[in-house]
Amino acid sequence: MPSLPPIDRAGFPILERRIGKGEGRPLVYLDSAATALVPERVVRAVERFYATSCANIHRGAHALAEEATDAYECAREDVARFFGVQDAGRVVLTHGATESMHLAAFGWAEHALAPGDVVAVAEDNHHANVVCWHQLARRRGVEVAWIPVDGQGRLDYAAWCAVAERGPKLVALAHQSNVLGFRQPALARIMDDARGVGACIVLDGAQAAGHEPFAFDEARVDFYALSAHKMMGLTGIGALLCSECAFARMEPVVGGGGMVERVDREGFVPAPGPAAYEAGTPAIAAAVAWREALALLGEAGLDRIAAHTRALATRAAQELRDVPGVTVLGDASLPCESLASFVVDGVHPHDVGRLLDAEGVAARAGHHCAQPLHRALGAAASVRASFAGYSCEEDVDALVAAVALMADAAGGGKRTGTRAMARQERTQP
Ligand code: ALA
Repeated sequence: MPSLPPIDRAGFPILERRIGKGEGRPLVYLDSAATALVPERVVRAVERFYATSCANIHRGAHALAEEATDAYECAREDVARFFGVQDAGRVVLTHGATESMHLAAFGWAEHALAPGDVVAVAEDNHHANVVCWHQLARRRGVEVAWIPVDGQGRLDYAAWCAVAERGPKLVALAHQSNVLGFRQPALARIMDDARGVGACIVLDGAQAAGHEPFAFDEARVDFYALSAHKMMGLTGIGALLCSECAFARMEPVVGGGGMVERVDREGFVPAPGPAAYEAGTPAIAAAVAWREALALLGEAGLDRIAAHTRALATRAAQELRDVPGVTVLGDASLPCESLASFVVDGVHPHDVGRLLDAEGVAARAGHHCAQPLHRALGAAASVRASFAGYSCEEDVDALVAAVALMADAAGGGKRTGTRAMARQERTQP
């Protein structure tokens, strides 16, 4: 059964673009894991904000300032509702998932951990959930202990058990890898064990948030980091969702306007609630945009979006695996949630990316800010195809056809590209 996009493609004028060779190919956007396309209704919401309520927040007594403040605080409440956080006061709005994880590191771990404490870091993490722990190791003398992946990219549960016996104080995990399409089979068990040893759990939600239902309070993690632009909002805004207990022990990292109750010659008293972690003027219009994106995702239904992207990504991975000369990274027996990464024998991933681009296929090539994971998998880099609720079956057809032709050419034309050519005839004008 073909999977129909749960999000109407007509809402994305950019999908009408023709690009590639002679600007003659329809855009096949397979880079939603880097940033999702922004629907027209989200752009309109931003236009409306600037046309009617442009002002700074929390600072003015005038009507525009009050409207802007309301819009910003409503965004916080919408994020809380969308992600099952009972108290919006535990939603800190940040500039994105990277800043969110650094806030967990420098606003919480910096004070809560002591030199010699063990911080367990999963090897499938994006650099954003790795570098802040290395930095903490330098600043506070904590020890970073790795939870390695095996050759198939699966987190090694036995290796984790050895780390768990050392009583880690914090465990940094990816909800969804930005390279491996599958959900880590050991993730739930590792989180259970982490709770058992009283470790703080920092979960990077950048690739999962907005792709599937997720209830933060029920998930019993301490920090969850997310970015609006991965869920059809704008760049420049994200959030750190905090458990009650973790939030209670946080301290401000950046000082300035909006984050204090009082400042005097002796010192300062931080403002109560999330404002203490939001110094300076935030991304107000992006907050407005995020509300609209969340509304759209809610209307489309996260269950439908998850089923759709899983169907597309799993089919893409299977068909790419059938192409001689192509290796899809990670365990082939597991479904892919919303993306798949691969390499083509004899063609550098950057060249694969450029050749795909000539066919109108926008995919990401490189190490995807996941060098430890690539190293563990024995690949310096890869090409990633990622899907969202507006992606369609024809996107998969175009990707597989273009890759098959390229792999065939790289193999000296000895391989059979017949299936791919048939597909390409179907997908190209
Ligand atoms: N973190 C984003 C990605 O994986 C940029 O592409």
